[in-house]
Amino acid sequence: MEVLGIDIGGTGTKGGIVNIKTGEMVTERFRLDTPQPSTPTAVIETAAQVVEHFNYKGVVGCGFPAIIKDGIAMSAANIDKAWIGTNAAKLLSKATGCEMHVCNDADLAGMAEMSYGAGKGEKGSVIMITVGTGLGSAFFVDGVLVPNTEFGHFYLKGMKQIVEKYAAASVKKREGISWDEWAERFNQYITMLERLFSPDLLIIGGGFSKKFEKFKHLLIDDIRIKPAEMLNNAGIIGAAKHASEKIK
Ligand code: BGC
Repeated sequence: MEVLGIDIGGTGTKGGIVNIKTGEMVTERFRLDTPQPSTPTAVIETAAQVVEHFNYKGVVGCGFPAIIKDGIAMSAANIDKAWIGTNAAKLLSKATGCEMHVCNDADLAGMAEMSYGAGKGEKGSVIMITVGTGLGSAFFVDGVLVPNTEFGHFYLKGMKQIVEKYAAASVKKREGISWDEWAERFNQYITMLERLFSPDLLIIGGGFSKKFEKFKHLLIDDIRIKPAEMLNNAGIIGAAKHASEKIK
């Protein structure tokens, strides 16, 4: 079975058709900038362009950078606030003519890694952190997802802003800090995750997964850490997998 997955991020909207059996993309990835301001109308139009690009008909999975409950966006950190309270799944389905299944983007990326990648067969507690425009999180206990965890919205001790404003990939770029400086911040963050959850594995995904070689030696070594195997495509692959499970 081949299903279209779309990953709407704070910066880019990406899509690709995925072979659900293997978890591999069978097309090139297609990427458009997420429009700014990222209002519902503008983002929906962009997602519709992704569907059109693939000339696709069928169910679609879609990752969205917010808390999502039954297709409804309950928060908006790196996306326009007008999304809060909207039924993203319904709006996207209407605009594309495809049945769209929407979940939190990091949860879907995590599902991809648990099914086909770095988390495959992993028991115990696994945390995936997507390091990109924001810090997304997916938390699994014996392979079962605890959805919408938003671990990127914690406050580190003494900080007045949430940790994603301090240690996301976009912050490194914006503040022009070195890998050492960024890793020091990220280490503070994962030390807190370690204290709270004692994860058996931490998977690093998002845009920085492909830069893992640049900073892996700078990370604390008391947590087992792996980069996402599907790199930044995990969100697309997890979205497609999730939608495939909705086909009756
Ligand atoms: C959002 C999360 C999302 C993460 C990664 C955060 O700003 O609150 O829902 O998973 O960014 O896109």
